[in-house]
This record gives sequence, C-alpha cells and structure tokens, in this order.
Amino acid sequence: MTAPQWDPAQYSRFEAQRDRAALDLLVRLPEDFAPREIWDLGCGTGQHAALLKRRHPEAGVHGMDSSAAMLDQARALADDVDWSVGDIATWAPEQPADLIFANASLQWLPDHTPLFRRLAEALGPGGVLAVQMPLSWDTLHHRLMRETVAEKRWASLFADVTARVQAMSPEAYYDVLAPLCDDVDIWSTTYLHVLAGENAVLEWMKGTALRPYLTALDGDPEAQDAFLAALGGRLSAAFPRRADGATLLPFPRLFLVAQRR
Ligand SMILES: C[S@@+](CC[C@H](N)C(=O)[O-])C[C@H]1O[C@@H](n2cnc3c(N)ncnc32)[C@H](O)[C@@H]1O
Repeated sequence: MTAPQWDPAQYSRFEAQRDRAALDLLVRLPEDFAPREIWDLGCGTGQHAALLKRRHPEAGVHGMDSSAAMLDQARALADDVDWSVGDIATWAPEQPADLIFANASLQWLPDHTPLFRRLAEALGPGGVLAVQMPLSWDTLHHRLMRETVAEKRWASLFADVTARVQAMSPEAYYDVLAPLCDDVDIWSTTYLHVLAGENAVLEWMKGTALRPYLTALDGDPEAQDAFLAALGGRLSAAFPRRADGATLLPFPRLFLVAQRR
C-alpha cells in the first residue's frame, strides 16, 4: 500500500479545533515536571513540539513524523527543535525519553498492545507518556465514510488501502500501561466542533481520515471528484448547517497520561 500523502494546508484549515484536544492533554502533565528529553511522535506541522520547546527551553525536543510535507511546515516554525522523518512503528530513542507526546497520531498504527508497551518502555523512570486519539470509529461521519468506501464502484481502487484501526477499550490501555506505570489517567471527552464553510465535515475529513483514500485516487482526478461528491452528499445531508451557517461536528477523543515508575 502507498503511504497516505498529507496536505499541511488542508490539515491546518481547522487548526483551532484540532489544537484544543492537544492543549487539554498538555495541562494534564505533572505540575513539577522538568523533562530533559522530549519526543513528539507524529508531530505533524510541529506546533506542539515548538510549544514544548518554549515551555522547556533546557530540554532536547524532537519532533518526528513520517510525512516530509508536514515536517517542511514544522521546520519553518522552530529551528531549536530536532525535526526528523521517521516511523513510530520502528522508533527507538537513543536515550530514555522523559516525555513522549503523541497527539492524534497513534490511531494510524495497528497493534496497540505491543505499541503502547514499547512506548512506555522507552521512558526513563518518572517519564510521562501523553496520548490523545480520536474515538472516531463509531461516529456518524466515519460510518458514512466506511459506507461510501465499501460501495462496489470503489472496491478495486481502494483494494490496497489499509483501513484505520479501531481504538482499544480504555480498560485495555490501562491493562497494558499499569504494569509499567503509576498514575494511569485515562479519560474521554466529546467536543462539539463548530465548523465554518461549505460542506465543512467533508473539508475536515479531507485533512485527516480521507488521506489514504485521496492518496489512492491520486492521478485520477475524475474518480477523486466522484468519490468526494458521493461522500460529500451524504455528509451534508447528515450535518445540516445551522441557522448561523455553522456546521456542528460531535467528536469524541480518548486521552491517556501515564508516568513510568
Ligand atoms: C492527524 S495528524 C496529527 C499531527 C499533530 N500531532 C497534531 O496534533 O497536529 C497525524 C500525523 O501522524 C503522522 N503519522 C501517521 N502515522 C505515522 C507513523 N507511523 N510514524 C510517524 N508519523 C506518523 C502523519 O504523517 C501526520 O502528520
């Protein structure tokens, strides 16, 4: 399968809404925390790694992502962060990390039991793992996406696309982290994102969940337009604009903060 191509400009269109969960995660870090080695895994356009560097100027801050296009934007934000292209699936730091921050990235990887164990094991004593992932599987917009993708006319075009995995239960994440960590704090929140513009839920999904499908149709603009029109029709009917023109998107997210003992 071809790796999804990311589009930083499309992703950043809803930056205020996307940032909200990352900031809610950051305020849950321990108050007296002074990390020296910080990793932002799947750092995307880099705003959180840059923020962590401003907050902890003495620390070595590393922003890692598999998308060169996202990293190009990140590099323009801060030159005192160590940006690198890499794959979370094979990531192993040279020295134990004090903070591993992963906002809206780990949902792209399979096999969460070994993945989360490996991330916790990459922390030094007292190090913190802080993760946020969308709980999108059961949301209406993802159900409509799966319904559209499953239509016969797309079957051969999407044959090589690896569908995103469903998150495990909160209890399952606890069971993986508790043998290695103290203070395993897990919670979920549903945001009601207020989106502006035409077919806003489609535009939102074009920045993230649809990347593998749009990548598969790259080079076939007609098929891409037809696919977006089919899904867009369903989404605009399911998410009608309010009286003030806004579109409301309920979006549940799972948060985990755990400190290595
Ligand atoms: C939804 S964006 C989140 C970006 C950023 N963390 C934020 O909060 O804005 C997901 C990011 O994860 C990256 N990603 C997905 N799978 C990855 C992997 N296996 N290794 C490294 N980065 C990955 C993508 O390239 C993308 O930039």
